[in-house]
Amino acid sequence: MRGNRIVTREQEVSHSAHSTTKPDVVLTAHSGNNADLLPHILRLYVPEGSIIADVTYGKGPFWKKTDTTKYTLLPTDLLIGVDFRSLPYKHTSLDALILETPYMHGGPTIKTSLNDCYHNDNSGHESVIRLYAGGLLEAARVLR
Ligand SMILES: C[S@@+](CC[C@H](N)C(=O)[O-])C[C@H]1O[C@@H](n2cnc3c(N)ncnc32)[C@H](O)[C@@H]1O
Repeated sequence: MRGNRIVTREQEVSHSAHSTTKPDVVLTAHSGNNADLLPHILRLYVPEGSIIADVTYGKGPFWKKTDTTKYTLLPTDLLIGVDFRSLPYKHTSLDALILETPYMHGGPTIKTSLNDCYHNDNSGHESVIRLYAGGLLEAARVLR
């Protein structure tokens, strides 16, 4: 990592060789933001045709550079009333699941912009840990 950007093997090779030629290799690291990286992650781990639930979809920024016609995407969020700790899916019915829980608790002592983004009314770090745990257990239930 350099700063908040991942430096790829491709860039390292290119840099060290002072060459702009792309090596013909399968890269396991890429540089970019979440939207840039998601297509690569899916190509590596999630076959086309898979059923993918993004259970913290928000406004869907992760998916801006992904061809969603290749998958069955099930986008939900607390914003539309679906709590990732109690998903409306059957046991072992999904191929992949994206869970990007709020990183910290909310409440009156927290910046309004964070409260607005996370929609997380937990009041302490312990409650954030419980939120993560609940999401992971539910993910384990619905994934094949
Ligand atoms: C860190 S944001 C990520 C959202 C999205 N991936 C993005 O990049 O904008 C966390 C998201 O989790 C949602 N959220 C918080 N608690 C939730 C819960 N219990 N169930 C489902 N979604 C929840 C929030 O509404 C928010 O959209």
